[in-house]
Amino acid sequence: MIVLAIESSCDETAAAVVRDGRQILSSVVSSQIAIHAPYGGVVPEIASRAHLESIAPVIGQALREAHCTMGDLEGVAVTRGPGLSGALLVGFSAAKAIAAARQIPFVGVHHIEGHLFAPFLEQPIEFPFLALVVSGGHTHLYHVEGFGRYTTLGRTIDDAAGEAYDKSAKIMGLAYPGGVLIDHMAQSGDAGAIRLPRPLLHDGTLNFSFSGLKTAVLQQIARQPVTIPSQGADDLCASFQQAVCDVLTVKTQAAIEQSGARRLVVAGGVACNGGLRSSMKNMCAGMGVELHIPPPSLCGDNAAMLAVPGDYYLSHGLASSQYLDVTASWDMDSIKESSV
Ligand code: KG4
Ligand code: ZN
Repeated sequence: MIVLAIESSCDETAAAVVRDGRQILSSVVSSQIAIHAPYGGVVPEIASRAHLESIAPVIGQALREAHCTMGDLEGVAVTRGPGLSGALLVGFSAAKAIAAARQIPFVGVHHIEGHLFAPFLEQPIEFPFLALVVSGGHTHLYHVEGFGRYTTLGRTIDDAAGEAYDKSAKIMGLAYPGGVLIDHMAQSGDAGAIRLPRPLLHDGTLNFSFSGLKTAVLQQIARQPVTIPSQGADDLCASFQQAVCDVLTVKTQAAIEQSGARRLVVAGGVACNGGLRSSMKNMCAGMGVELHIPPPSLCGDNAAMLAVPGDYYLSHGLASSQYLDVTASWDMDSIKESSV
């Protein structure tokens, strides 16, 4: 089945053409980072307008790069939520319109469902597996038994890991989004230079908390201001990164021990992080657990990842109704194959 996938939940307009939920024929991502950077974060109304301008050219480019026409498409998969309602509506309306015009089925997919199946675009993974999704809006541990069968084992009780990266970067005076900049500077820093907290590390739950870490960065800068570039800034980045990676790794290890999982997926934008990738690799090697982390191009928001669950639902007769609408908040545990 040749599926057109569309993503517009936040600040990336993306379209991809994927065969059989496996083979990426094209994947186009148009980022709005430069548009939102002067505001230090995503401005929802500006995001919706930028999606409107990009959606048709991005879909057109995805079709051209895949050497396909609309007539070759057999289904459409699109992010239904969670995300910014106005932004979601742009991609969702485009998907519905294409499906109606071509008389092909479409399916609304959970954005995080896309992230956690991104590694399938390289190699399918046997169920069940444990998944850590770390992005700008999510830091969640899921037990995944199959498509549409997810149980949340733990989650952040305040900021997501990516949010903590971006907010801490802003406090340090770095550009938006600062996650990748902290990652880069951390490589030249001493991770033991500054003592930062590891919130909820040994609280006996699988939950996370990152807002205190951001406050600790603020207090550290108040005590000892840093200029950029400097060794002090690199040390602060390395110490921050170590604290985030320690918490993510220890909690994921506890989830593996509790669930007896043999396979782990780490996905979402923060899965690009060099420190996290190596920390997870070491932990999994020590435990004999199979680790799957998508390549950086498939960790951040993209449309190809949506085609994996999308292809499954469409080929199992689980298309969405033309009356389905977007949803800004949507719990993964409430997704059931039958209700798609
Ligand atoms: O998955 P994603 O592209 O969008 C959401 O669904 O949120 O994740 C974006 C998040 C941002 O917070 C960004 O700063 C963070 O991922 N991120 C990183 C890195 N690359 C992206 N955080 C730490 N290190 C990185 N290398
Ligand atoms: Zn995302």
